Amino acid sequence: MKDKLIIFDTTLRDGEQSPGASMTRDEKVRIAKALQRLRVDVIEGGFPAASPGDFESVQAIARTIKECTICGLARALDSDVDKAGEALKPAERRRIHTFIATSPIHMEKKLQMEPEQVIEYAVRAVKRALKYTDDVEFSPEDAGRSDEDFLCRILEAVIDAGARTLNIPDTVGYSVPAQFGNTIRNLIERIPNSDKAVFSVHCHNDLGLAVANSLSAVLNGARQVECTINGLGERAGNASLEEVVMAVRTRKDVFACSTGIDTREIVNCSKLVSNITGFPIQPNKAIVGANAFAHEAGIHQDGVLKNRETYEIMRAEDVGWKTNRMVLGKHSGRNAFRSRMNELGVEFDTEESLNQAFFRFKQLADKKHEIFDEDLQALITEAAVESEDEWAQLVSLKVSCETGEVPEARVVICRNGEEIAGAGVGGGVVDASIKAIESIIDTGASLQLYSVNNITSGTDAQGEVTVRLEKGGKIVNGQGADIDIVIASAKAYLNAANKLMLRVGRQHPQTGSDV
Ligand code: KIV
Ligand code: ZN
Repeated sequence: MKDKLIIFDTTLRDGEQSPGASMTRDEKVRIAKALQRLRVDVIEGGFPAASPGDFESVQAIARTIKECTICGLARALDSDVDKAGEALKPAERRRIHTFIATSPIHMEKKLQMEPEQVIEYAVRAVKRALKYTDDVEFSPEDAGRSDEDFLCRILEAVIDAGARTLNIPDTVGYSVPAQFGNTIRNLIERIPNSDKAVFSVHCHNDLGLAVANSLSAVLNGARQVECTINGLGERAGNASLEEVVMAVRTRKDVFACSTGIDTREIVNCSKLVSNITGFPIQPNKAIVGANAFAHEAGIHQDGVLKNRETYEIMRAEDVGWKTNRMVLGKHSGRNAFRSRMNELGVEFDTEESLNQAFFRFKQLADKKHEIFDEDLQALITEAAVESEDEWAQLVSLKVSCETGEVPEARVVICRNGEEIAGAGVGGGVVDASIKAIESIIDTGASLQLYSVNNITSGTDAQGEVTVRLEKGGKIVNGQGADIDIVIASAKAYLNAANKLMLRVGRQHPQTGSDV
């Protein structure tokens, strides 16, 4: 019997700490449902003490998801632990993950605490968390730069206090595989009560080594990996779930453990996360990139046709790539629509919500001949965006462009029930439209990113636009999809502006700053 490797997904917590990746409660619940279909063992739903919104999101996930353990993050403070315990109450299986920094630089400069005090806080937080659940995880933050002797002391103390998962984070992505693996082995061997806990790792990707470090840890005894879909996360991100899972599965000969993941759900889940956060997947990304299974070179194609194993170490269909991609069209009925949506993980709670989605689908099918899975996912994201509170709403947009003439745009925006018209000129019609919108809403934000991505192929494909805006250190991403990329751009810009103006501040768990 192989050991079980626990997959702890932190897309909704650490992934969301990535600037601009913040998600609404409903979006988080949608992703949590996709993670449940993927059969992850633990979903870290958020940091309940960060804001009332984060608290509600964790609570909503705890209410909805029944097949995974739901986890909430808490600093080693009574108030944080209590908030996490409260938010997790509806969960059938709940875990509190508490942490405190242990590296010399963090203890001295960030916490301004003596090592002994840090141990006291850690032990106290673990004991307090046990009032809410017997499933308590402890992380010594910045373990990758902490002293090994000190790690042994604090970890022994928290196991004695009742922690049953010890997570070793490489918070700043400083470790390298052989050394990190050695650290894990040493901790397991040196800590006298280590047999009472599962050792876990949580690696950041600053040197591009997050997956390699995680796998090295697994080879050295770690039996939980914390990871995110598409490797989403702060700075260079976290270890990518799909890469860790497929490495362990493909190299069964090397790893003495296996995961319970339903790998056929990987691509769906990856697309959903990309769609909701507006973070595109690079084409050459392992497992989930559009080119991950494409064999361009003639010699490779020849080999694959003769015997696919000549160049393929995994099967595209095993991670959820579909060969028959065309799904629905203008003549598809409600039942076909509903069942395809269900396969994509979208369930309609009421007939009314099904009817609304079906109406949108018909509108799209009138303009676009073939509707692909990606179109359906964009449709649902659009509906979710429109159902959010809106500070400013697009009423109409008219653009003109002609060779040799300056492109112009006229726009009408609704604010506080009042329709306001504006106009702008620019280098192109998109530029003119954004200027026309800004002439009305005047956010004063700076544009950090504008990108257009074809959802599918063909000139009638929907364009999916991502806009990233920054103001006063707050960074938000907005998205919009439409067959017309000028309209998609206006929608994306307004979506970002709405998030910027409406989103209330929340605290970053590790830095304490507002995000
Ligand atoms: O990177 C990190 O150290 C973390 C901890 C809170 C586990 O995210
Ligand atoms: Zn982290």
